[in-house]
Amino acid sequence: MTNTMISRLNGVRPRGKFITLEGIDGVGKTTHLQWFCDRLAERAAQQGARVIVTSEPGGTPLGNMLREILLRQEMRCETEALLMFAIRCEHIATLIEPALTRGDWVLSDRFTDSTFAYQGGGHGVSIDKLQVLEKWVQGELQPDCTVLFDLPTKIAYSRRSGARIPDKFERKSDEFFARTRAEYLRRTAQAPERFAIINAVDSIAKVREQLEVILMTI
Ligand code: TYD
Repeated sequence: MTNTMISRLNGVRPRGKFITLEGIDGVGKTTHLQWFCDRLAERAAQQGARVIVTSEPGGTPLGNMLREILLRQEMRCETEALLMFAIRCEHIATLIEPALTRGDWVLSDRFTDSTFAYQGGGHGVSIDKLQVLEKWVQGELQPDCTVLFDLPTKIAYSRRSGARIPDKFERKSDEFFARTRAEYLRRTAQAPERFAIINAVDSIAKVREQLEVILMTI
């Protein structure tokens, strides 16, 4: 008998599942977010749980205030990394951990892999320092499943060049995004059991087929 079944029999809701979405700007994550969220909610409902959707940088009132500064203000990349973890500290304590403890599932549009990819890979902040912050802020908390939308940087660039005025991150160079993508891929190789990689070059329908397969495993 699984832990989930034992908890149900005891009338206790099992701990919720923590799912994160990742990828460089322009991979099409936003296009699939609502659809994925609806399908995940169906999946969670089968197990008697609800889905709380959140995002980083942000997720709390303080996080949203800091997000505005982060997306607009130039700053040292170490400062940027520290702010990302400060936002995350608040996010985990006030939203993510209470939800998981209640038995809700949490879907976060970006989490710590973004900091390793953008600040670590893209900007060159020491990975060792980021690991110290990760341990400090998260303890043992890690996503149960991380869906990485992967796309060559040139295609991501052409998808990014839409009408909206780009923020500070979206204006970065192709080389920056190549380093960011490389760090994402390096992380997937380090924790293959946690990551599901989506080939985001595919059409919307084909990407959804890939997501359906992942949903069956969550
Ligand atoms: P957002 O508009 O939410 O972008 P997206 O829709 O692509 O998620 O902006 C978030 C930006 O912040 C995005 O460019 C990635 C960046 N970011 C980091 O650099 N480090 C981080 O730790 C996080 C969470 C985001």
